[in-house]
Amino acid sequence: MARITAGIATSHVPLLGVGIDQKKMDDPYFKPIYAGYEWTKDWIAKPENKPDVIVLVYNDHASAFDMNLIPTFAIGCADTFTPADEGWGPRPVPLVKNDADFAWHVAQSCILDEFDMTIINKMNVDHGLTVPLSLMFGQPDAWPCKIVPLAVNVVTYPPPTGNRCYNLGKAIRRAIESYEEELNVHVWGTGGMSHQLQGPRAGLINAEWDQRFLDDLSKDHERLRNIPHIEYLRETGSEGIEMVMWLIMAGALGASPKALHRHYHVPASNTAVGHIVLEPAS
Ligand code: DHB
Ligand code: FE
Repeated sequence: MARITAGIATSHVPLLGVGIDQKKMDDPYFKPIYAGYEWTKDWIAKPENKPDVIVLVYNDHASAFDMNLIPTFAIGCADTFTPADEGWGPRPVPLVKNDADFAWHVAQSCILDEFDMTIINKMNVDHGLTVPLSLMFGQPDAWPCKIVPLAVNVVTYPPPTGNRCYNLGKAIRRAIESYEEELNVHVWGTGGMSHQLQGPRAGLINAEWDQRFLDDLSKDHERLRNIPHIEYLRETGSEGIEMVMWLIMAGALGASPKALHRHYHVPASNTAVGHIVLEPAS
């Protein structure tokens, strides 16, 4: 049977993709940011940790969807997904290859479990999905595993609640654990942490709040799943709401996972970068 062996969360700041593409790893601005991913890059390269498939939870930033179409939860079921052109040409990263049979199974299982996923067969994937892959895998010719894109609307009000996201994570776990093929599956949550990109509060950082969120990913899922939208907005800025996507990962792992590694750094662009690697409780 397929099983979840790890959960990874990370910010997906586009500048961090540009830094990798332009080989700025030793630049003094980027160095302390990328240093926090070295542990994970080593860990994930070991054969026993390498995922066969990642269910990669991210949000599209008006690259594939716009005001014409706003799916709350969309699952990519095509064979491949092309990196999006976000205004500077597509990033020079590999094509994203899916395990379509597995993705269709997850879609079916979640829908029959009463989560009305939108099935997407054509979608370009933006920095929300490609930057986390670059942070964990560097610059390979091909991504080392299959990737199921799971896009969440956190751009246009109303985004789903943290609790809904947490419960979707549980449904994703049921889907994975009912798939007969033996697969090592990771669930990744991306976005966050504190960030507000525009207006008078642009650049808002609440490190104390972010650190407590990282703590509670292994200690207190009940608190996290009940954080209301207004708290993300007030405490972490308008784009801090991206952190509800980390709760899909948390719900998939289940209560009290073990934190294997964690990283937090300010600034990257004008945001706080957070990253954590979690192992499900046995
Ligand atoms: C930025 C954009 C993002 O989507 C994000 O999650 C963090 C930062 C930015 O433009 O700086
Ligand atoms: Fe974002």
